[in-house]
Order: sequence, then structure tokens, then C-alpha cells
Amino acid sequence: MITGLRCHFSGSFRFSVARMEVTAPLLFWLFLFSCFHCIVSQPGFISINCGGKEEYRDGNGIVWTPDDNITFGEIAQTADSKKYPKQYTTLRHFPVDNTNKFCYNFDVKNRIRYLVRAAFLYGNFDGSNVYPKFDLYLGSTYWSTIAVFDTDTVVVRESIILTTSPTISVCLFKATTGKAFISTLELREFNGSLYTTDFENQFFLSLSARINFGAESSDPIRYPDDPYDRIWESDSLQKANYLVDKAEGTEKVSTTMPIDVNLSERPPEKVMQTAVVGTEGSLTYRLNLNGFPGFGWAVSYFSEIEDLDPDETRKFRFIIPGSNSAQYSKVVVNVQENAQGKYRLYEPGYQNISFPFVFPFEFRKTNDSSRGPILNALEISKYVEISSGSEDAATMASFISRYVSEDWAQEGGDPCLPAPWSWVQCNSELQPRIISIKLSRKNLTETIPTELSSLTGLVELWLDQNLLVGSIPDLSNCVELKKIHLENNRLTGPIPLELNELPNLSELYLQNNMLSGNLPEEFANKKIIFNFSGNSLLSQQKQNSQKNQIIIIVLSVIGVLIILTAAFSLYQCYKRRIKLSSKEDNLLSNPPSQKLASFFNEVKAETSYKFTLSELEAATNKFVKQVGSGGYGVVYYGKLKDGKEIAVKVLTSDSFQGNREFSNEVSLLSRIHHRNLVAFLGYCQQNGKNILVYDFMHNGTLKEHLYGPSAQQRALSWLERLEIAEDAARGIEYLHTGCTPTIIHRDVKSSNILLEKNMRAKVSDFGLSKLAVDGSSHVSSVVRGTVGYLDPEYYISQQLTEKSDVYSFGVILLELISGQEAISNERFGLNCRNIVQWAKAHIESGYIEAVIDPALLNDFHIQSVWKIAEKAISCVQPYGSHRPTISDVLKEIQEAILIEKENEVENEAGEDINTDMITSSMRSAVHIEDSVDTATPGRDMSLSDTVMLPVAR
Ligand SMILES: *[C@@H]1O[C@H](CO)[C@@H](O)[C@H](O)[C@H]1NC(C)=O
Ligand SMILES: *[C@@H]1O[C@H](CO)[C@@H](O)[C@H](O)[C@H]1NC(C)=O
Repeated sequence: MITGLRCHFSGSFRFSVARMEVTAPLLFWLFLFSCFHCIVSQPGFISINCGGKEEYRDGNGIVWTPDDNITFGEIAQTADSKKYPKQYTTLRHFPVDNTNKFCYNFDVKNRIRYLVRAAFLYGNFDGSNVYPKFDLYLGSTYWSTIAVFDTDTVVVRESIILTTSPTISVCLFKATTGKAFISTLELREFNGSLYTTDFENQFFLSLSARINFGAESSDPIRYPDDPYDRIWESDSLQKANYLVDKAEGTEKVSTTMPIDVNLSERPPEKVMQTAVVGTEGSLTYRLNLNGFPGFGWAVSYFSEIEDLDPDETRKFRFIIPGSNSAQYSKVVVNVQENAQGKYRLYEPGYQNISFPFVFPFEFRKTNDSSRGPILNALEISKYVEISSGSEDAATMASFISRYVSEDWAQEGGDPCLPAPWSWVQCNSELQPRIISIKLSRKNLTETIPTELSSLTGLVELWLDQNLLVGSIPDLSNCVELKKIHLENNRLTGPIPLELNELPNLSELYLQNNMLSGNLPEEFANKKIIFNFSGNSLLSQQKQNSQKNQIIIIVLSVIGVLIILTAAFSLYQCYKRRIKLSSKEDNLLSNPPSQKLASFFNEVKAETSYKFTLSELEAATNKFVKQVGSGGYGVVYYGKLKDGKEIAVKVLTSDSFQGNREFSNEVSLLSRIHHRNLVAFLGYCQQNGKNILVYDFMHNGTLKEHLYGPSAQQRALSWLERLEIAEDAARGIEYLHTGCTPTIIHRDVKSSNILLEKNMRAKVSDFGLSKLAVDGSSHVSSVVRGTVGYLDPEYYISQQLTEKSDVYSFGVILLELISGQEAISNERFGLNCRNIVQWAKAHIESGYIEAVIDPALLNDFHIQSVWKIAEKAISCVQPYGSHRPTISDVLKEIQEAILIEKENEVENEAGEDINTDMITSSMRSAVHIEDSVDTATPGRDMSLSDTVMLPVAR
């Protein structure tokens, strides 16, 4: 199946088509894991080896159980299964499907703290080398995003949560790249007061770091050394940005003496028997804290394990460099005194402390201490606020508990969050309510569950074609109800009068039951669709003519409704199409019938057109006219038989995936339509050639117009530049927000912004980065992008987000302002090759004139240039989280356009703006920094245009 990319430009119509595509048999929607029959040897331990075949005990004595009773997802093996511990060599993966979540459910004791650990080892199980990225939920609470960045690394997430209900569910949702999968899932029951916090009713703890200092090997310590099977990572483990900046004189110490660890968190003795000491007076470390910034819980574990002379002391303070750390450094730790002796545990910590992502810390000895600090272990977790879940969660839990053996009752997690169960619809409130229940044809027996009457948001109820008996329950609390389907059951008793009181009821279906009593007269007078035929015991008070009358009303209402619905939906389609193409004037000038026809054609044309090679050879005259070349191939001009001009992109032959993946990905491309994206027309895959065909764009690239030959002929005006920026931002905004999964362009640059006849801009080359595979190695272990536009954060972390495109777009804004290339060896002065550093230094010191393109000839309003300049600088912030979204940027560009246009009118009226005054007042608003030379030299990353940099593991 093709991966489920959807772009919702045509609104609900397209959406419903897409939904139908994924309506697989029910079994495919669901799966369950209930753990009541697991055999576990350690009490309170549940260890699931996902995708496993049999139960086994590992070297640590942990018994792993397969999840073989799950009916959903597929099991797979890592490509090289010899490399990893057995439990990580199998996994279960799930179809790409963004309307459903996949949950493992566990029965737990109520109000007990549990450690929940999920592990993910990609191991190229699908042979695609596409690193998966998806979200992990604990119940209805977003827990973490799992972004695989390496084939062989186990990604682990661990939480400690106080249970408030009899089940815990761990759910996987929304794969944005690759497939969601899971390797192992573990539950560890904690007794006593371990990890009690003041916030545990509202927050769970999500582990960020648990470090054993002075460790004797790089292996972690866990069960059986830790009876609770926490994983204590060794401080000698080699990881990027993990325990770096270690102070001089840091030495390991260890002991074999027993250590009294009987304090709150009970760290294992083995962890406490090793430590590091700062022989030169301090211990320093820096580490990245996964999940932060945020508020967290932190504990350090100390124990004196060296023999100090009676006159010696070990006293030190905790310091967070660069922060206002007075509050922390006031406290002096004196391990032996605090622990009331040697070989005893002291565990000071913070219940609630704010942590950055990059966390540097220091323990520094006090002046009157003879020894430097000691550190045995450290633990840091983030508080994650527990989502209150959907309003009807408890009601639904009770509802489905009546149907424990039914597949549809096993979907697990919250009924609405993060995605609703397949047979439920919810509204979009923060605490959603259920608005529809569809359980038609499910063989439901017994009476209609009374829980339904508590679902006060319910609008539609479908329980038709079941085996339900008993009477119709009181639904008078469900005042929103519009449609009730109870037909084709075995319901008995009278029709409740309360149904008549439901203010919004418009359709009531009760036919083919065994209802009895009198048909209430009130219903006859209501103008609703009401079907009660096939209830032979139902008697009518009035004579037959009355019945006929009702049927006539009912039938005519149905008729009118059908006509109205049809007319309305046609109108909606029509309206939507108009809205979409409001700027496509040619379409507007067509008669409406044609518009409708073209709309429906478009909806049908979901799969991409396949050109033959001879067709393209004819169109391009055997590929003679080269009009461009980029990171992925060479582009030729062509003209189809019908006169349509096309751009034919012949992809570099060795850099693309096999045939099947190619055609899958290409059909995704063909679903992306937007006015500001270059239209994809089709593809060709023949004689070893991979070719993509696009609309031809007459005016070439933005790059050429800024500093190519076209620029020499005529420079783009400031307003034209703004409009190009607006168009391009719209195109990118669509990729980021209009498509599911989100598309990250990865190679936004001025040569990928193309201009059509009327100088409207369209973004090209979108979706290609996903297609390309580096011939020899793994796709995501190379950073893709173009020097000068490449997001430094992405370069360092390899974590790709929309904000990487925003960074690149910021560079384009700087190019538009300055008319300078992103990278230049001469233009930006000594020690600076990079437009970002150069422009930033000038703009932040208020000297914007230095960066404005002289070719603009002062024909602009300095206010609008400032607006764009400031936005550009915020786009190129080093951290993605500090950058705006592309939608914010778009708004700013539109405001700048307004300024230009308004002032155009004012200028014509003779009210000239004193640009100098505005400049200086704006200047005073920004931070003044005199020297331009303070600009730091740009990082010289590569000399070629498009880079693919291998990143160190
Ligand atoms: C921690 O402290 C901050 C600021 O004082 C507060 O907003 C927050 O609610 C506290 N608790 C948690 C669990 O974050
Ligand atoms: C309902 O029961 C019938 C007969 O036992 C069976 O064939 C059918 O598959 C069942 N339907 C569902 C949805 O379970």
C-alpha cells in the first residue's frame, strides 16, 4: 500500500475519499494486548518482546514474553539480528495510517507507581533505510516523539506514573516518516514511596538521564543488581553531547564495602559503590536533556566511599554555570555529615527545577574543604502534564467492559485521543466529547447499554442490525441527538415518549423490531424522518388515513432532503473550487459547468500519469535543451504534442530507490497540488531512467533574477520581491500544514523558487528529499541541503523539523533584501563567507542600509524592509524553537506588502515619508552593537553546492 500522504486542499470531500481508502476490515483497525495470562517470573515485572515467537529468559534473568496474541500490525526482524540482544531483534510495526492509533493495554493495580519503558531498535527491519519518526502516547497524554536517527541505536523512553485507572496503555500514533514500530515494552511495579512527588496526580515523570558515575564498564546496571530494574547508564558510554566538558582531575573511585541505600529512591548498591571525585576541586559535565527545556525532578546520589583522615573534609556546592544559580549554590553538601556516616546514602534533589535542553553543571569544593567533590549517581526526569483525556472516557470504559471479547472493544487508550476509536467520532474540544457511535452489524446482544444515556454530546447513534433486546433506554439527557438508528433489532416495549422531547432529533429509525404499545400521537405531528414499519405489535390510535398521512410526510421530507443534500453538496464542491482558485483568473472566466467538471476530474486523478520514454524524447527533441540542473538531476525543456510546455527532470541514475518505492513516492508527489508549488505532471521509469515531469516555468529561478544575467537586465523591485516571498511562503506553508504527513522540503533555496510568466513564484523540488537515497549508505545518516541554507541545528542534531525550512527561508529573505548570494568568498568581508553572519551583524546593530541591495535604488519603504529584515533574523536563529513558523513569516510579508502598497498611494498624494527618521527611530529600538567586525567567521562546511555530509556517530 502506498504510504498515506494526504493533502487536504479540497476539504471534506477529499478527506472522505481518503478515509474510505483506509476502511480495511475491522480486524485491521484494532489490536489489543491484555496481559492477564503472561507468565512472569519476577513479581511486578511485565516484559514484552514485541514480534517475538517464544518466551525466554535473558542473561539478566528477565523473562521476555512475545506479543503473539496481537492481531494487528506485522512482525519483523532487524536486518542483522546477530548484533543485538535477542529482545531487540524482533519488533512489531504498523501501517502508515494517521487516523488510527495502535495501543498496547495492560491491566494494572490502581494508585501504584509503575515504571513504563518502551524501546525501539530500527535495525533496518523494512530494508528501506528510512528512519521512522512517530509519536508515543501514554494513555491520552503525549509522551514523546520517537525519531530514529541511527540503524543500530536502541531508542528508549521511560516514565514513572502513578496509576489512576485499572489500565495503562502505550500508544503509537502518526508516523511522519517510515513506519511506527516497537521492539520491547516493559512495566515494573514500584512499591512503597519510590518516586513519590507532590505533583504525581497531574504529572508523570519522563526520564531524561540516569547516570552511574565512575562505572567500571560501559554496560548499564539493571536487574538483578537493581531489584526495580531501572537502567543506570555508565558514565563512560560514548554519546554525542553526553557528559562532555569533564573537568581536569576527574578520577574514578570505587569500593567493595556494602553501602546502606535504604533511602527514598533506593539506588542499587552497585551503583553507589563507584563514583567520580574532582581531585582538582571541581566536577563539571554538560549533557543534552532529552525532552527539556521544562520543569523537572532531579536527584543526585552521594556516598562517601573514600577513606578520609579525621581532619579531612569533603564539602562542595552545586553550580549551574551561566544561570542565576545563587539559589542552588547556597547549599553546601557535606556527604559524610549529611549521610550520617561513611558508606551511607545521601540523596539531595529538587522536586521542581527548571532545566534547559543543554545542561551544564558543576560541583565545586568550598574553600574550607580539603577534598574535592564526589558524585555517585544522578537522575533527571521531566514532568509531563497528564492529559485529562476525553470527557466520556470513564463512561466508554464501562461501556466496552460489557464487550471484552469483541475486537472493536480492544482498541485501547482514550476513546478520542490522540485519535478516536474506529467506531467513534469526537468533537474537537480540548476535552473532547463523543458525538457519534457507529456499531451497526456487530452482533450486539442483550439490552442497549445504559451508559449511552450519559453521553450528553452524542449526535448520532447507530446500533442497527444487531441482536439487541429489551426496551429503548431513556436518552433524554442526550439533547444533541439528531439521528437514532435502532432498526433491525429485537427491541421490545413501547416507544419512549422522551424521544419526542429531543429538541434536535431529525431522524428516528425503529423499523423491524418487536416494539409494542401505542404509537404516540406526538410523533405524527413532528416533521422528522420516522420509520416504525415492521413492528407488528405496534398499534396506532388513529385510523389508516392518519398512517398514510405520516408516511406521505415522511416520504416527502426524505425526497426534499435528498434533493437539498445533493444540491448543497454540489454547491459546496463548486464553492470550494472557486475559493481555491480565486486567483486563477482563467478558471474563473470559465463557465461554471466546466469548473465543476474539472474539479471532479482532479479528484479522480489521484495516481500520477506515466509517460513513455519515447513520448518524452519526442517532447524534448531527444533531451537537447538543458534548462537547469540541481541536486537531483538535470532539467530539460520540452513541449508535448498538445503544445503544453514541460520541464523534464532526469534524475541522477544511481541516487534513487528501486522501482517500487520510486513509483510509490511519485504517486505521493502527484497528490500535492497547490498554486504556489510547481505542478507535477507525471513520471517515466524506463531503460533505467527515472524521470519526473513538471509544468515549465517561463521565468526561471529567483536566483537568476537576483544575481544572474536577468538581474543585470532589470532588477526586481522591492514589491516584486515581497510578492515572490509571499508566494514561496505560501507554498512552503502548504507543505508544512496542508499535508499529512507534513512534508519538509529540506532544500529551500533561491534556485528552487521558480517564476512563471507573470512573475508569480512557485516552489519546486518538494518531496524529492524523501525519494533520494544515498547510493551506498543510509539515507538519514547524511544531512541533505545546500551550503548557505542549511539549518545548523539540523546539521548538528540530524533532527529534521519544519523549522529547518524556516531557516532556509530566512536566508532567502536576506537574499531578497541584499541581492547577495547565500555564500560568497568576497562579498561579506574578511572571515565571513555567509550571508547570515554578515546580515545579522549589520541588522542587529541597526545599520540596515549596509545590507540593502543598491539595485533597489531607494525605491522602497524602509519600514517594510525593516519588517522583513527582523523576521529574516528570527528565521535564522540557531535554535529551531526560537524561529517563527512559516505562517508567521507569511503574515509579516503580507504586512510589508500592505505598507508598500499603502505608501504607494500616499506618495502619489504627495505625502513623502521621511525615511531617515523612521530608520533612526527603528534603529534605536534595536540593540546597538558598534563593530561589524565582531561577526564570527562562518563555519566552512563544504565547497560544493549541494552537500551530503556524513555525520559522526
Ligand atoms: C514547578 O514550578 C513552576 C514554576 O514555579 C510551576 O509553574 C509548575 O507548575 C511547577 N510544577 C511542575 C510539575 O511543573
Ligand atoms: C455475526 O454473527 C454471524 C453469525 O454467527 C457471523 O457470520 C458474523 O461474522 C458476525 N459478525 C460480526 C461483525 O461479528
